[in-house]
Amino acid sequence: MKSLVIYYSHRGNTAYVARCFFEAFQKRGEANIFELKYIGGENLLMRLLYRFTPSRVQLATVPFDLEDYNVLCLGIPVIGGYPSSAITKYISLCENTSGKKVICCYVYGVEASADHCATYIEKQLKRRGTPEVINVFVPWYDVLKENFLDTMINETFKRIS
Ligand SMILES: Cc1cc2nc3c(=O)[nH]c(=O)nc-3n(C[C@H](O)[C@H](O)[C@H](O)COP(=O)(O)O)c2cc1C
Repeated sequence: MKSLVIYYSHRGNTAYVARCFFEAFQKRGEANIFELKYIGGENLLMRLLYRFTPSRVQLATVPFDLEDYNVLCLGIPVIGGYPSSAITKYISLCENTSGKKVICCYVYGVEASADHCATYIEKQLKRRGTPEVINVFVPWYDVLKENFLDTMINETFKRIS
């Protein structure tokens, strides 16, 4: 199994969750991990504005073509009920998503808001093809709770195997 982990993180929680997933994928095959980075305009105001115009985001290059991968794991911070614009932009550039397993890992504070974000992301993914979407919800305040992530990651692997 070849897996790709892509994430964006403002405050580090999503980065930590993405890293844990990456290490779990490494134990099961080949895995790569990339942090999304904005080219220019990474100040807070620009990032807030990009939420309404994600198409204007310019991302540093990461793998966009999933042809060689079985699984894509997206680390998604929920901000204002939406994913970070870097994630939205990444999805809009993804190729060959059909038939791939896409784990959407939402790191959030408010459940209803994370649900809203998941609905939004699923719509974006459907524009790019027909992947199998597996949603995983991680409250930010549980990220460092003992065994929480291990259990969640093991359950996720059961769902994709
Ligand atoms: C400015 C700001 C806005 C946020 N808005 C939401 C929100 O709308 N819904 C939610 O569930 N969590 C919200 N959160 C909580 C974040 O999802 C949480 O801080 C998470 O850890 C962000 O991921 P990160 O640590 O990787 O940046 C917000 C946090 C910040 C700082």
